[in-house]
Amino acid sequence: MDSSQDKVVTRGLRDVAAAETKISFVDPMGALYYLGYNIDALVGHVCYEEVVYLLLNGKLPTKNELDQLRGQLISEMQLPEAVINSIKSFPVSSHPMEVLRTEISHLSMYDPDGDSTSEQAISRQAIRLVAKVPAIVAAIHRSRSNQLPVAPNPEIGFSENFLYLFRGKPADSEEKEAIDRYMTLHADHGFNASTFAARVTASTNSDMYSAVTCAVGTLKGPLHGGASEKVMYMLDNINTEEEVEAYIQGMLDDQKKIMGFGHRVYRAEDPRTKHLRELAEDLCRRTNTKNLYKLCVRIENVVHEKKKIFPNVDFYAAVTLNALGVPFQFVTPFFASSRVSGWTAHIMEQYKDAVLLRPTSKYIGEYGRPFIPIEKR
Ligand code: SDX
Repeated sequence: MDSSQDKVVTRGLRDVAAAETKISFVDPMGALYYLGYNIDALVGHVCYEEVVYLLLNGKLPTKNELDQLRGQLISEMQLPEAVINSIKSFPVSSHPMEVLRTEISHLSMYDPDGDSTSEQAISRQAIRLVAKVPAIVAAIHRSRSNQLPVAPNPEIGFSENFLYLFRGKPADSEEKEAIDRYMTLHADHGFNASTFAARVTASTNSDMYSAVTCAVGTLKGPLHGGASEKVMYMLDNINTEEEVEAYIQGMLDDQKKIMGFGHRVYRAEDPRTKHLRELAEDLCRRTNTKNLYKLCVRIENVVHEKKKIFPNVDFYAAVTLNALGVPFQFVTPFFASSRVSGWTAHIMEQYKDAVLLRPTSKYIGEYGRPFIPIEKR
């Protein structure tokens, strides 16, 4: 009999180390490191382009290296005409994450390096994807809202350009800082489901675009990046702080998960939450939506009282983007627009690791069933 009977299943791969990585460490006690730098030392002290350089090259850039990368990223925000036309052709009922997933796949057909996985080709493709994923998200919104696309401004930074392409208007200094910190905080996070999906695809030596397409499809799920959009719908359904306790208890009684709360790894507060909570508070104050922020704090307290769990990255990220004028359906595409930097770094690391990620399983089905031809079934 197959030794499958001896196999021990770790449901959900909880606490299973599937590979070694140098890219980021998620400390269950509530810390996050990118290439050895604590995220608290980076947020507010580096720009997103420095984080992209760090993830893709393993070190922080010099001023010249940063200027060169910024120039490359901004010029790569240009999309093929066919992609722009394709975005316009989709039904307005389609979700922006569906369009993003489709257009990343479409984009691969116009990449001059094709499906090459050579070291030079994949580092060029990583830059193209880091630049083009946010550009596609902006193009979807401009098309959906019947607004003309705007060209990136070479005088401003990359994440500020992303918000500019999306909204069609310049960001002020507080908004510029907010979007840059948002992008820094979402760039990478160990072997989360979408990153692992990208690595499994890369482990077969499939191309980077196929791996990122898989990652987008995985991030879309409400147990992962899709939760951030659901947070906004939940906040929309709760009118006052007085309603929070009954609303949350009702969700729990129905065995429903509270979107934006809990985490597979963290046993303390997600270290990104304090930064996003601060951004959300500042931006809610300036957009006269302080009540929304106070509602969030009340929800945090009630959920912790009842389930002893904390808000994860998605909770205050959604409120931050909402205050920057990002519609609910674009909250997860914004997540993807930053995480593409982590995905591409992990894909490159997986190519170097050069091993097929293929687990086994514990077979609990039947054996030796007698075959009966269809005439006699
Ligand atoms: C992201 O992995 C990453 O790093 C992801 C991410 C990243 O940067 O890439 O951090 C981004 O995806 C954050 C997570 C976004 N998802 C959500 O906010 C959806 C809601 N969260 C839950 O579905 C849940 O917390 C998960 C999916 C995030 C984690 O699930 P686990 O590890 O499988 O934990 P579990 O579902 O087994 O819950 C353990 C206990 C259970 O209680 P008991 O049944 O044992 O009494 O905690 C409870 C759960 O009921 N619980 C929740 C809850 N999360 C956990 N109860 C209510 N609401 C929740 N959100």
